[in-house]
Amino acid sequence: MDKIRIGIVGTGYVGNVHGNIYAREPRAEVAALYDIIPERAEATAKRIGGRVCTSQEELLDNCDAVLVCAPNRTHISIASAAIDAGKHVFCEKPFAIGIEEATLLLERANASNKAFQVGHNRRFAPVYVKLKDLLSTDAAHSAHIKMNRGELLNPVWTGDTNVTGGFLYETTIHYFDMLRYQFGEIDELVAYGSQHEYPEIDEFSIIFKFKSGFHCSFASSSDASWFFPFERFEVFCHHRTIVTEEMVKVMDCRGTNADFETFSYHMGEEDFRRGFLQEDKSFIDCILEGSAPKVTALDGFKAVEIVEAVYRAIATGEKVRFA
Ligand SMILES: NC(=O)c1ccc[n+]([C@@H]2O[C@H](COP(=O)([O-])OP(=O)(O)OC[C@H]3O[C@@H](n4cnc5c(N)ncnc54)[C@H](O)[C@@H]3O)[C@@H](O)[C@H]2O)c1
Repeated sequence: MDKIRIGIVGTGYVGNVHGNIYAREPRAEVAALYDIIPERAEATAKRIGGRVCTSQEELLDNCDAVLVCAPNRTHISIASAAIDAGKHVFCEKPFAIGIEEATLLLERANASNKAFQVGHNRRFAPVYVKLKDLLSTDAAHSAHIKMNRGELLNPVWTGDTNVTGGFLYETTIHYFDMLRYQFGEIDELVAYGSQHEYPEIDEFSIIFKFKSGFHCSFASSSDASWFFPFERFEVFCHHRTIVTEEMVKVMDCRGTNADFETFSYHMGEEDFRRGFLQEDKSFIDCILEGSAPKVTALDGFKAVEIVEAVYRAIATGEKVRFA
């Protein structure tokens, strides 16, 4: 069987995370690399191989599947060019910026007969797989959830809304996708936001109500320090609390006393703990099997829809309802 030839556009942090994984994947090979800073693609090629391309077009001519790993604002054009060239696409989050772009990309992805997967890696992380498994035996009533960041300084573009689309697109969107994965579709939300450290709204408090009746409070700060755990679910069920800490630990406290069971993943390889390994294998599976990706273009679109709904709720001071 021929190996799937992977092309990586953007060989910075996350391009290298995926590149390292595909370099070890027997069903794929890192075939082509393109970065607007050529030395970055050259440095990656030195470690894991692959042809260093001088243009996106050259990359498209030398691969079967494209990983879109450049900053947020570029995703729409890189992913669209890859679809037009008949390639399978793995698009890092965010799927797109704004409803207009997201609608366009969704239409293009749906019209393609190749795989299109979005990089919401947390769906594959053992902590969140375990949370979903535990919740499958018990209905969640409510939750207190946070997703924080220590700064918007690294990489340098993370503080520039012209590149990111806003803090919610850069970080919090991961958990907006996770909310749908764990609790289903959202019915309505109210949100408050304020601006402190960076020239954009950088602190958020949101209340979500879901179609199932489940509801939760949600906090997200861009400048909370790197206090551990910077992401956390506290889910409340019938005489039960389930808590996640980062992508490291799940604690499950059942009944009416304070005993709890802990599931810990701290000894796992980082790429496994964060779900990148499983995510990349899953992309190859869906290419080879012709099956639907585990995180579809529609999932990517819906995460963008939640980001936009939160910004709109803050701008208008009104509750936003979902269709
Ligand atoms: N799933 C995750 O957990 C996760 C983690 C980190 C980053 N990301 C996402 O991945 C993307 C990249 O983030 P990063 O942290 O790797 O950033 P980075 O700055 O480390 O790397 C981005 C690379 O893209 C290159 N680049 C910029 N514009 C380009 C273009 N038009 N064509 C080709 N190359 C281009 C840059 O030179 C840089 O080397 C972002 O969209 C980010 O949100 C996802």
